[in-house]
Amino acid sequence: MDGVKASLVFVGMLVVGLLVSVTSGLSPPTIVSNEEEFVLQPNSVFNISCTGKRNVVWTEPLPKNTFVYPGYYTATLFIYNATVENTGYYMCTYQTQEGDLEDEPEEDNEAGIYVFVPDALAPFVPETPENLVVPMETDGVPISCRVSDPNSHVTLRSVPSGEDMSAFYDHKMGFFGSLSPGQYQCETSVNGHSIRSVIYTVETEVPAEMDNFDVEVKASEETVRAGQSFNITCVAPIGLDFQQQWLHPKKQAMGAVQIKDTSLDGVIYTLSIPKATSQDSGSYECSVTHIISGEVRVSSVAVTVFEENSFVAVDHSGIQTSEFVSLLEETEYTILINAYPNPKVSWLKDGKAMPQTYYIFTKTSHLEGNRYQSILTLRQPLVKDNGNYTITAISGSRTAHFSFTLKVKAPTAMMFPTILGPCAAATGGGDGGAPPHSFHLDLSGRG
Ligand SMILES: *[C@@H]1O[C@H](CO)[C@@H](O)[C@H](O)[C@H]1NC(C)=O
Ligand SMILES: *[C@@H]1O[C@H](CO)[C@@H](O)[C@H](O)[C@H]1NC(C)=O
Ligand SMILES: *[C@@H]1O[C@H](CO)[C@@H](O)[C@H](O)[C@H]1NC(C)=O
Ligand SMILES: *[C@@H]1O[C@H](CO)[C@@H](O)[C@H](O)[C@H]1NC(C)=O
Repeated sequence: MDGVKASLVFVGMLVVGLLVSVTSGLSPPTIVSNEEEFVLQPNSVFNISCTGKRNVVWTEPLPKNTFVYPGYYTATLFIYNATVENTGYYMCTYQTQEGDLEDEPEEDNEAGIYVFVPDALAPFVPETPENLVVPMETDGVPISCRVSDPNSHVTLRSVPSGEDMSAFYDHKMGFFGSLSPGQYQCETSVNGHSIRSVIYTVETEVPAEMDNFDVEVKASEETVRAGQSFNITCVAPIGLDFQQQWLHPKKQAMGAVQIKDTSLDGVIYTLSIPKATSQDSGSYECSVTHIISGEVRVSSVAVTVFEENSFVAVDHSGIQTSEFVSLLEETEYTILINAYPNPKVSWLKDGKAMPQTYYIFTKTSHLEGNRYQSILTLRQPLVKDNGNYTITAISGSRTAHFSFTLKVKAPTAMMFPTILGPCAAATGGGDGGAPPHSFHLDLSGRG
């Protein structure tokens, strides 16, 4: 019998006087015995039958050394070689039929017995781990130490003080009472020797929303110059039940100071690095564990520390500040960059971020060592591509720019022998899939 079931039945017993019985059409199954409680000798064999108006089953899970023999509207439960582990409830219910709603077995739809298997060597029934930690409830908490012998006298003690606690005891359920968070142990005596149970822990009640929490980690700067300070902050929920931990390679944040502050938004953990070195570059992870539920949230941020000796230069040899290209003639502009560390390169056209399309795009690549290149490609230059192009390369604290204006040369009469009217732009074949050189003129541009 599992603990959840046991405590439900237990609470049910406490309020039994208030229950109004709801009668369903079917009468509950019947146990074929006058008794509801059995005391078995260790190693004995036991059998009991249950019958009903439909097929009945003995509720799983059942201990390994049991066997159910099904019959017509009956089910017989056998316990072979009984041990203390067989001490508990055995419930018989109607079998759920196909098409039945998956409803919980109602109280008036089941019948049960309780079995004790007294064992002087195991006066307490071996406990299941999930019963050892009990969430705090103001109207009472169960301490599920059950005994194998129904005649045992049991007391509840606080750990470590040994103080005798007053709580209601039921041999089939254990203790139930108003207890403060803390640790407790049950005690009984066998042949004059006192024997203690495992230790139970009553924990502060967990608010439901705590199952779901967020962790946010941020760096004051994601790129930091060597020698400057930076902070990594992590915001975790408030409460004693949360445990925070910084995770990062050992060489990072060697001289860091850890600070903990509480605000309305949560607990703010700060990792403060007063003087960054390149060793502090890398990923910083903040891990927060909710101790009771075991839930873990992780968030991380990467920081790059660049040395003071950063440099960047752009080499635009061969590109003039005014460049002319022929209409529709594929053209590439290559800018060489010499930089340390790895530069961030961006392109602007007339002061705005340059959209990357099939017709016009940029590509930056690493050549070797500190050398990089960035190439601006115009596949089919049009008049609307005229403008001011600027490349910016940033390395550490250094920045380099180069700007040039591009002008697309108007078509000549040679190129367009049948030119008509004062048209300003041409579309290439790219839009409609026509061959690139058999184009027509219009004013709409390429899309
Ligand atoms: C089941 O138990 C009864 C006594 O309660 C006994 O008479 C019967 O023989 C047992 N049946 C089996 C199959 O062991
Ligand atoms: C019960 O114990 C006896 C003797 O110890 C053994 O022969 C038998 O196989 C056991 N039965 C089961 C079902 O374990
Ligand atoms: C880092 O945190 C400390 C303490 O809160 C603060 O004094 C300092 O200004 C912070 N530094 C940066 C770079 O944000
Ligand atoms: C081109 O743009 C850059 C940056 O937007 C600006 O500094 C520069 O003066 C412009 N050049 C011309 C010729 O407009």
